Amino acid sequence: MSAPQWKVPLTDVTLDEEEAQAAADVVRSGWLTQGERIAAFEREFAAMVGVPHAIAVNNCTVGLELAYAAAGVEHGDEVIVPALTFVATANAAVRLGATPVFADITSDDDLCLDPLDVVKRVTPRTRAVVAVHYAGFAADVRGLREALDAHGASHVVIVEDCAHAPGARERARDGEPAARCGGLGVVGAFSFFSNKNMTTGEGGMLTTRDDATAATLRLLRSHGMTTLTWDRHRGHAFTYDVARVGTNARMDEIRAAIGRIQLRKVLVANARRADVVKMYLDAIDERAEGLQGLHVPFTRGSFGESAHHLFVVMLPEGCHRERVMASLREEGVQTSIHYPPTHMFSAYAQRGAHVSLPRTEAAFARLLTLPLGPAMTRTHVDLVLDALARAIR
Ligand SMILES: Cc1ncc(COP(=O)(O)O)c(C=O)c1O
Repeated sequence: MSAPQWKVPLTDVTLDEEEAQAAADVVRSGWLTQGERIAAFEREFAAMVGVPHAIAVNNCTVGLELAYAAAGVEHGDEVIVPALTFVATANAAVRLGATPVFADITSDDDLCLDPLDVVKRVTPRTRAVVAVHYAGFAADVRGLREALDAHGASHVVIVEDCAHAPGARERARDGEPAARCGGLGVVGAFSFFSNKNMTTGEGGMLTTRDDATAATLRLLRSHGMTTLTWDRHRGHAFTYDVARVGTNARMDEIRAAIGRIQLRKVLVANARRADVVKMYLDAIDERAEGLQGLHVPFTRGSFGESAHHLFVVMLPEGCHRERVMASLREEGVQTSIHYPPTHMFSAYAQRGAHVSLPRTEAAFARLLTLPLGPAMTRTHVDLVLDALARAIR
């Protein structure tokens, strides 16, 4: 089957001559591996998030593995994760020999982890909880911290999976300034995969407020070595020790150069995404009858400043989702499902993850991701929703 020509693709990648030029400059410089551009990208990303430390990595999955390890997760520990996320969130725990323990989402309005369900799953082996900022909306990290503390689980650390949330802010509370995602838990892990709000192809970034955690992450990223090739090249060091067993999770200078340009654009692009979401919500209201029973999560309540990575809807009860998707495909509209819950995958079922997550499972049955990108216009939105209304009928 040939790939369809999408009238409205799921997302659009916005790379132009600036990124091409930046990448070419690195090639011409002759120094491709971790150097000055990585250091600059890290400083600039940390400033955007509002934390003192950012550590560039080769992707978010390996970044999560490093984050969990720096949070103290070891073989035999338990890590509480949502099931409504990309499988990487749980995989990274398994790779460390830990057991992912799945917790439920809050509701059809808030598809992020439910703090009250999390605390019910805390055991003496629980080491960390991973808050995934689903679709770009900040999970309730403060609520999670308070629930854990009230439960006598102050030692359990919170890691943020920020793959969807560069630039997002938490839910404001009592007039306190809202911090950006990546500055809410002990470590935040971002993805720059090619469908993300900002991209370097493959790539990721870790953020933390804690000096010691930052030092551990830097060690783990590069085999636990105490100096870098770059330091030795500049004559700043001649030898090294291996202080802790790590891996090679380094980013390269080409990606850092592209990432620095993308970072300059991401908040503007997020604001454009917010405009497109507003267009969707207005257009859905206008079609109240044709789209009866359609539910849009994260519209009732306050969820902070979203990065609007995905536009996710829940189809009317009883709607045949695969037929709706096929019909949209026929009309040139690309859709997806975020996500098949991790505990339902065979690899996890075989690992004995037989857990019942009623809210996750009920939401999943109705979830559909519609196209969202900064370049979309009201014409695209109308095209998508008219096709959806026909498909639902
Ligand atoms: C929620 C979530 N976590 C982690 C990842 C993994 O990111 P990467 O592809 O950079 O390893 C993704 C990527 O799709 C994701 O969506």
